[in-house]
Amino acid sequence: MRKPIIAGNWKMNNTPEEGVALVEAIKPLVKEANCDVVVCVPAIDIPAVGAAIKGSNIKLGAQNVHFAEKGAYTGEISANMLKAYGVEYVIIGHSERRQYFGETDETVNKRTLAALAAGLTPIVCIGESLAEREGGLTEQVLDKQIREDFKGIEDLTKIVIAYEPIWAIGTGRTATDEQANETIGYIRKKLGECFCPVCASKVRIQYGGSMNAKNCKGLMAQPEIDGGLIGGASLKAPDFAAIVNFDK
Ligand code: PGA
Repeated sequence: MRKPIIAGNWKMNNTPEEGVALVEAIKPLVKEANCDVVVCVPAIDIPAVGAAIKGSNIKLGAQNVHFAEKGAYTGEISANMLKAYGVEYVIIGHSERRQYFGETDETVNKRTLAALAAGLTPIVCIGESLAEREGGLTEQVLDKQIREDFKGIEDLTKIVIAYEPIWAIGTGRTATDEQANETIGYIRKKLGECFCPVCASKVRIQYGGSMNAKNCKGLMAQPEIDGGLIGGASLKAPDFAAIVNFDK
């Protein structure tokens, strides 16, 4: 059985003070959760939010990590720096990073390997654009991301994968339950072919893209879907909690 994991991706929202207020509101609402609960916060919020969630069942995540241990990489943050503040998870290769910040499959792979080496759990995002889906290229795009982003990973079960169709992110347009399940099933099959079938059956694959309090139950009922990476709906405590408590 794969334990579901619901992670909030705050993106560039919430000052440290606002972040603390948000997790303080979330804490009592999710304390009976049966899934792993993660908040991926802006780097500057990490110390304050980390302190606020101490002793709770909420885990701390970052939104990016550099591949080098240290050095001349202005503006970047290393895995050890994140670890020093109790970060356990890190989103890597989000489509916004690929689109706006020049992230490539190669840099996603390097960041993922560096995060694993430091003992962080990467949440690696993959997914196709609308043009790619409509052009029938979804599987081809995913094949390339799977081959390149996960190259050299010794134990696939140490990562979390977020399947995020780009056309569903922040658009209010969710993949249908069946579409999401089918595509995640495809990803799992491909992982089995490219890596190892046993790891493929164990690795957790989230769905991300306009998942909310209303549609989460249907998505989470799908056998291939092991959780969600939640953007907009993670910024409101009741909405995020409703997703975390999808099974109640
Ligand atoms: P959304 O974002 O839930 O606002 O669509 C998801 C994501 O980008 O991770």
